[in-house]
Amino acid sequence: MQKVKIRVAKKRDIRAISKFGTPVVKEMKFYNREHMARNIYELSIRDLNDTLRHNRNGIVIALSDSNSVIGMCVHYVSHGHVDWLDWLLVDKRYRKMGIGKALMEFAIKDAKKKGCHKMWCNSNPENKPMLKFMPKLGFRKIGIAKRHAFKEDEILWERIFG
Ligand SMILES: CC(C)(COP(=O)(O)OP(=O)(O)OC[C@H]1O[C@@H](n2cnc3c(N)ncnc32)[C@H](O)[C@@H]1OP(=O)(O)O)[C@@H](O)C(=O)NCCC(=O)NCCS
Repeated sequence: MQKVKIRVAKKRDIRAISKFGTPVVKEMKFYNREHMARNIYELSIRDLNDTLRHNRNGIVIALSDSNSVIGMCVHYVSHGHVDWLDWLLVDKRYRKMGIGKALMEFAIKDAKKKGCHKMWCNSNPENKPMLKFMPKLGFRKIGIAKRHAFKEDEILWERIFG
């Protein structure tokens, strides 16, 4: 892995995160129109600022040597000390270099620090890299929620820490 810095995002990073994340999400062609519109909104400066305000240490970023945002994840503690992974995005040019894994490990450490015993998340069944990536990170496929959010099928994943 090249020299990549992983850290919690601050307010000053939000514009760069939005600029990085929006095109990455637009490439994910398997989302339907309504879902894509929602995804794009969630990566807008306005919504990312909201996330930052309400979600302590919840946005994690990967920075290149030149301090450009090349990866991000968003996670938060939901009820009962279970952490939800909302986003995980890595710049196409930097994939398969361990950055996704490093972001996840950082988020899992933070979730543990916040008292969580488990993390869970979803992925689109058409998202083939995630089928390989999640088990590598110790996640187990719980099953498929049919016709779930935005009437799309979703694979649900979990990793229990303790
Ligand atoms: C999924 C994604 C985050 C993976 O990030 P990444 O930085 O390429 O992953 P890493 O390099 O950390 O890979 C970790 C492990 O998963 C494996 N892996 C990752 N992508 C893979 C792929 N496309 N095919 C096979 N294995 C893959 C790696 O080989 C590695 O295995 P290892 O630990 O045995 O070496 C990245 O492909 C991505 O950003 N995709 C588009 C956005 C997306 O789909 N996000 C998830 C839904 S929000």
